[in-house]
Amino acid sequence: MNDLKTKVVKVDPDNIDLNVLQEAAEIINNGGLVVFPTETVYGLGADALNEDACAKVFEAKGRPQDNPLIVHIIDINDLNTIVEEIPSNARILAKNFWPGPLTMLFKRKPIIKDIVTAGLDTVGIRMPKNKIALELIRLSKTPIAAPSANTSGKPSPTEASHVIEDLYGKVDMIIDGGSTSIGLESSVVDVTVDIPMILRPGGVTSEDIKSVLGSCDYDPAIIKNDEKIIPRSPGQKYRHYSPKAKVITYKGSINKMVEQIQKDCKLYLDNGSKVGIMATDQTKNNYQQGIVSSIGDRNNPITIASNLFRQLRNFDKLGVDVILSESFEEQNIGKAIMNRLGKASSEIKTLPNFNLLLICTGNTCRSCIAEGIIKNVLYNKNLPIDVCSAGISAIDGESASKYAVEALKEINIDISNYKSKVINDKMLEKANLILTMTEKHKHILLRTNKEISDKIYTFKEYVNSDVSLDILDPYGQDLDVYRKCRDEIKESVNNVISKIHL
Ligand code: TXA
Ligand code: MG
Repeated sequence: MNDLKTKVVKVDPDNIDLNVLQEAAEIINNGGLVVFPTETVYGLGADALNEDACAKVFEAKGRPQDNPLIVHIIDINDLNTIVEEIPSNARILAKNFWPGPLTMLFKRKPIIKDIVTAGLDTVGIRMPKNKIALELIRLSKTPIAAPSANTSGKPSPTEASHVIEDLYGKVDMIIDGGSTSIGLESSVVDVTVDIPMILRPGGVTSEDIKSVLGSCDYDPAIIKNDEKIIPRSPGQKYRHYSPKAKVITYKGSINKMVEQIQKDCKLYLDNGSKVGIMATDQTKNNYQQGIVSSIGDRNNPITIASNLFRQLRNFDKLGVDVILSESFEEQNIGKAIMNRLGKASSEIKTLPNFNLLLICTGNTCRSCIAEGIIKNVLYNKNLPIDVCSAGISAIDGESASKYAVEALKEINIDISNYKSKVINDKMLEKANLILTMTEKHKHILLRTNKEISDKIYTFKEYVNSDVSLDILDPYGQDLDVYRKCRDEIKESVNNVISKIHL
């Protein structure tokens, strides 16, 4: 199917030409296909109640028949005609995030045919936050089924030129409304279960959902890297978002990623391949070879989300054979970024984690408090750092001191199962960084281990404290002293981590 005369029309979202949208609505009502912008990516729209029109969507995209379409509406009341029930969680989510990048799954009414849902008994529905999209649905007076307007398997389109590349001659009209703002598709969330479950991470994050409903799960298939678990969202089965070039993604500390990408880049170049490097504002100047492009600012991940698909397509235009990409923190929108990047990649290289060793005397107070606090921060940030602690004159297998456990419990960190360890040569050798609680600990270790001199600091020296270099010793004292010690460590932890990471 490549024989339609496609009309490409520019529409200014701030000054919408209703005549154009009226024409587009007529195409929809006559069973035709119209591509329109949304705040996430461009959508390939058809009348969701017209089976023949929906069949054309599959054909134009080359989409597998088992992958259902999302239905777009403009009013929450539109749900009444197409879904059996609206669970209370769905109402709350709609109130907070519609219009916006959230697709919810509902039990469908028979008016929604098998072609739309690929035979599933649920239908995915969303209200887009884009004036052109909303106006088109309003004028069409029907819900619009619209997958992303790309050829199946390719990166989703974030500008009209991407759509033209993929679908020119296969659709009736392409409405060019400029670049989409979010740049990644909506989150797909099953609200038919008690705890809402994210089947595809996207613009509305698990953190957002938890902030209004208190809880939110992920489909295990999208967090565990296990091909045996079948994703609940059919679209997540496929390798996806792939440019022509082979994509390799590196996971690890920023320094390690940059180092490994440089090495691999050289190998590919020596073999005559053209190499693209997907870097960030923070790292782009560290690469000397390859075609280096910053995808955005690590401190502002929405910039990375909005550039990801564009960047993958750009590398194809430049004719690179292989794209070497850094990876990003998997929190908030980072979860969706890494989901798409993972699906675009044919290989993910996980580099060894950074190894942080914390030292005190008995490993039952200060160093295990520090370990607990740092692990907690790392867990939330999903950073590639391993932490362990040990004591210079510790006894193996002792519990953390009672007040250490209590002081951390007050900030929701559980170290009640902690067991102390004596320091050994292997630990010192394996560590990339050793932080001692006092200067004395540092000197004792250095006396017998000169080779660690370039990676050992006192905790406070490492974060440039200009007061004392020692962390207060709470051993044998009351709970208040433990709290002070905890707070002293807690204050500096983010500094320690950001210093390691960059
Ligand atoms: O942001 C977006 O969601 C864009 C814009 C155009 O709205 N649309 C989009 O559609 O990304 P599409 O078709 O490319 O992706 C829809 C995803 C697919 O992974 C599909 O498997 C899943 O949603 N999905 C749709 N209905 C579903 C259902 N009933 N059960 C499970 N997954 C469903
Ligand atoms: Mg898609």
